[in-house]
Amino acid sequence: MLKTFSLAVALLSVQLVAVGQTAEPFDAGAKVFRLDGGGVTYVFGVNPKGELQQIYWGGRLGAADRFEQAQVKPEWASFDNSYNNTPQEYAGWGGGLFAEPALKVTFADGNRDLVLHYESHAVVPGGLDVVLKDIGREMYVTLHYRMDAETGILVRWATIENREAQAVTVEQAAAAAWSLPAGKYTLNYLTGRWAGEWTLNQEPVLGGARVIESRRGTTGHQANPWFALQVGESDENHGEVWFGALGWSGSWRITVEKDQLDAVRVTGGFNPFDFGVVLKPDEKLETPIFYGGYAKDGLGGASRVLHSFELKEILPHAPGKTLPRPRPVIYNSWEATEMNVTEAGQEALAEKAAALGVDRFVMDDGWFGQRKTDHAGLGDWYVNQEKFPHGLKPLIDKVHGLGMDFGLWVEPEMVNPDSDLYRKHPEWVLNFAGRPRTEQRNQLVLNLARADVREYVFGFLDKLLTENDIAFLKWDYNRNWSEPGWDQLPAAEQKKVYVEFTRNLYGILAELRQKHPGVEIESCSGGGGRVDLGIMRYVDEVWPSDNTDPFDRLGMQDGFTYAYTPQIMMAWVTDSPHWLNHRTTSLEYRMLSSMQGSLGIGADISKWTAEEAATAKRLIAAYHQAQATIVQGDLYRLIAPREGSAFSATETVRADKGGAVVFAFIHSTQEGRGFPLLKLKGLDAAAEYALTAIEGKAKAGTPARASGAWWMNHGLEMDEEFRGDFRGAGFRLERQ
Ligand code: GLA
Repeated sequence: MLKTFSLAVALLSVQLVAVGQTAEPFDAGAKVFRLDGGGVTYVFGVNPKGELQQIYWGGRLGAADRFEQAQVKPEWASFDNSYNNTPQEYAGWGGGLFAEPALKVTFADGNRDLVLHYESHAVVPGGLDVVLKDIGREMYVTLHYRMDAETGILVRWATIENREAQAVTVEQAAAAAWSLPAGKYTLNYLTGRWAGEWTLNQEPVLGGARVIESRRGTTGHQANPWFALQVGESDENHGEVWFGALGWSGSWRITVEKDQLDAVRVTGGFNPFDFGVVLKPDEKLETPIFYGGYAKDGLGGASRVLHSFELKEILPHAPGKTLPRPRPVIYNSWEATEMNVTEAGQEALAEKAAALGVDRFVMDDGWFGQRKTDHAGLGDWYVNQEKFPHGLKPLIDKVHGLGMDFGLWVEPEMVNPDSDLYRKHPEWVLNFAGRPRTEQRNQLVLNLARADVREYVFGFLDKLLTENDIAFLKWDYNRNWSEPGWDQLPAAEQKKVYVEFTRNLYGILAELRQKHPGVEIESCSGGGGRVDLGIMRYVDEVWPSDNTDPFDRLGMQDGFTYAYTPQIMMAWVTDSPHWLNHRTTSLEYRMLSSMQGSLGIGADISKWTAEEAATAKRLIAAYHQAQATIVQGDLYRLIAPREGSAFSATETVRADKGGAVVFAFIHSTQEGRGFPLLKLKGLDAAAEYALTAIEGKAKAGTPARASGAWWMNHGLEMDEEFRGDFRGAGFRLERQ
């Protein structure tokens, strides 16, 4: 029987159609494949030895431009042979390969040599499928290539198939390897920790390998599966950038390598650490997807292309829409009440929230089972009778009556040992027989790879959504794996938990969305621990960090946007002084910081003064008006809040250049220095734009309206009085 360990869920599969393709995808004479999209051309071919070799990746070429057949790279003395030196699209480990392999397997007889040669190909809508085969064994790999016509982002993944008579163990499987042209590169990547996600790291690519990875069973706060490589003098606004993002929410690895001949390549996919999938005869393993793109206009250009791709091609859409709808402004009481949720308390907060102009009321942790602290209750998804004696209905009705929709927190993949579920099914958690079960936050991870656990999780969520009018789930995941055993399986098969867990997670999300098409979902993992292009195919938004300090968030929001669109970047306004840094900031500053993404309120609004409520109401209304531009426009990071900068500023411009929103923040004025002149970007030079303030003032004498050329060349100057610490200003420009 043919079984596929596939991550492609029919509901939301890759469906790009390359209407932008102008050149033939295959030149049979030269054995060259070519894909064009947006401003990008990608070329690879079959060399005389039969290896599939990368030829060109960069700015778009003329439709009539032709390439010669790919030629292998020569050996380097007697130490590195041509198999090792040739930039292959997907190299098997064998034949003297010392570079990072795309695929490493062990055959039943102990043979571990795998040399993949071109076998056949098919032109498919939007791209190509190219089949490779081992030079001797019945081991096949189909490389999938789909080019997005608009952005030139190339979508790559692989399907590995065992047609041998005996089982083969896959020990390492990448989605793709990307080879870059010769050059001096700077690598950009994102790292972090709980409450400190989204730090942009920039370093030269030197000899050797830089590994960015998660071994945690999930995406992780500590590193994020995205990279950008800038060549030469490329900066935020100028120069060539190659970038990529892996769509996988399990353990992953991206290796950026500069080899002994200075060739730079990036290989990424499943993390090979502790990995192993046994493919029985005729079984297949499908890898995650690795998306790769190219931009000519710096890191800013790269992120604009990626944001547009995420909005149009990755995130779920309502039927017939090309963009996901802007996120409702939410209220969530987590920081105000923590787990002390009650019907009366939530209803009182809902009244306050509605009066501010909030669209969605979300009840966080604490509503279910015997959940009073984080010691108990996870796994028991029934409504707590003490806190909600009449179930959720009265609260939901109240929220609806106030003109908001209702959302609920869940953490489906976890269990507290102190729960009915664990008492009944201690065998359901990840563990090794007879070994300790390490708890974190007093909880264990359910083995979602198991069919019965998958059924349980889908079942309770389906019931919850069927029985209650719930518009939104905040789907949390508050620890990483330990002791990742699946002791019901034969020893050799247990490691497939790394694939099956994530595949089942995606499957549950896809099925829930199919059965409850109106429901929206947030991916949260104690903050930003599960943000990647894999989960983004099934969720509408993410929680970037549990750290809601408005100053810290400016830095995180900057880091976040190199890889991800502000549309999904939820940003709550919470109380001051902030619980984490004990920093005191004004409500205006907190509001403006959160307005850079998808705005929410997470403060204890029962304690707000009438003046504070009025400020929030005014700014929520202003946000609603400008929101589509802010979260779906082209983002220009005018001044990044990095490297101790005293200031920061962003601008977003609507795709039709009809309007723009500017945010400016002072972190700390020193020596009386005024705010830097902001030369705006991306406007239509010939059009007239009117300036209105959302908050703060422009310098006296600034024209109420002026040309795009004026705003871009003369620039926008801030009021002389715009000084101090933790201050913000916001402006709108609308084409007249
Ligand atoms: C995680 C989330 C928080 C909150 C708590 C609830 O830490 O990131 O926003 O939902 O869990 O326990």
